[in-house]
Amino acid sequence: MTGTRTVAETSLPGLKLVRRGKVRDVYEADERHLLVVATDRISAFDCILPTQVERKGEVLTALSSFWFGRLAHVTPNHLVTTEVEKMPDAVRASADELRGRSMFVRRTEVFPVECVVRGYLAGSGWKDYLATGEICGHKLPEGLTESAKLPGPIFTPATKAESGHDENIGEARMREIVGDEVTERLRETSLALYREAEAYARERGIIIADTKFEFGRDDSCRIILIDEALTPDSSRFWPADRYAPGGPQPSFDKQFVRDYLETLDWDKRPPAPPLPEDVSAATTARYLEAYRLLTGKEL
Ligand SMILES: Nc1ncnc2c1ncn2[C@@H]1O[C@H](COP(=O)(O)OP(=O)(O)OP(=O)(O)O)[C@@H](O)[C@H]1O
Ligand SMILES: [Mg+2]
Repeated sequence: MTGTRTVAETSLPGLKLVRRGKVRDVYEADERHLLVVATDRISAFDCILPTQVERKGEVLTALSSFWFGRLAHVTPNHLVTTEVEKMPDAVRASADELRGRSMFVRRTEVFPVECVVRGYLAGSGWKDYLATGEICGHKLPEGLTESAKLPGPIFTPATKAESGHDENIGEARMREIVGDEVTERLRETSLALYREAEAYARERGIIIADTKFEFGRDDSCRIILIDEALTPDSSRFWPADRYAPGGPQPSFDKQFVRDYLETLDWDKRPPAPPLPEDVSAATTARYLEAYRLLTGKEL
C-alpha cells in the first residue's frame, strides 16, 4: 500500500542521485553540498517493506535536526538547513515533495567507520559478549544479562559493510583505518555525544541503549558529525518505564512491525510482505511519540 501522503522513493530532475539507502535518498546538491532526503520507507530484518509509514521521514529529519542543534556545543555538524525555501533552485522545484524531509548538508570525506556507542547490552554487542565476554576488545564483567546497563558507555566501532551486516572491529583495527589521532578524536566525541543525549533522553522517558554516529572531514579539514543523529533508525530507543533486563526490550518504533511480521510465515528474505493499515498507523504514532517525548513538542 502506498498512502497518498507518503513518499516511497524520490527522483529529482536535475540532481544527481549519489545513493539510495534503505531509507534515505542522497543527492549531489552542488559541488560542496548534498541533499539527504528521508523517505517514508521502513525496513525490518534488513529488508525494505513495500508499505511506507506516514510521517516517518519527517520525524527522522526533525529529530536529527533537533539533536544537531542541541549537541552543537559538543561537535560541529554538517547541517546547513532543513528549510526547502533556502535550498538551491533544483531542490525548490520539488519543494512539496521534499518539505520537512530534507537536509541540505555540507559534503564531507566520510571516515569509513561507524562510531557505535553502547550503554546497554543488546544486538551484536550481546552476541559478542555471550561468545567472548567482550565487545570490540572491551572486557566486561561476568554474568551480565541481555539488555543490562553497562558499567559505563563503551565505544565499539564497526566497518561500513556495503551490503549485509556491519562488522564490529576493535579500536586497534580502527587505528589502522583512520589513524591514531582521528580514532581518539572520534571516540571521545562519540562518547561525549552519547553521554549527553542519553542523560537528556532518560529524563524524558527514553533509554538510548546504543547509537551510531558518522563523521567526515569538510573542505576546511574540520572533523564534523554527519549523516542522521540519534534517530530511532540509527539507535535503539527503549521505553524507560518498561525497562526489564534479562531479555530483549520492546523497540520504541518498530515493535509493532516486528511483532506483526513474526506472526507470518515469512522467511525474512526479500520480498517482504506489506503491513496492514493498523500496524503502519501504530508505527507512525510511535515515531511521533518519540519526537514529542524527546523534544517536548508536537511535530
Ligand atoms: N555530510 C555528508 N557528507 C558525505 N556523505 C554523507 C554525509 N552525510 C551522510 N553521508 C552519507 O550518506 C549516506 C546515507 O545513505 P545510507 O545508505 O546510510 O542511507 P540509509 O537510508 O541510512 O540506509 P541504510 O539503512 O542502508 O544505511 C551514508 O553513506 C553516509 O555516509
Ligand atoms: Mg545508514
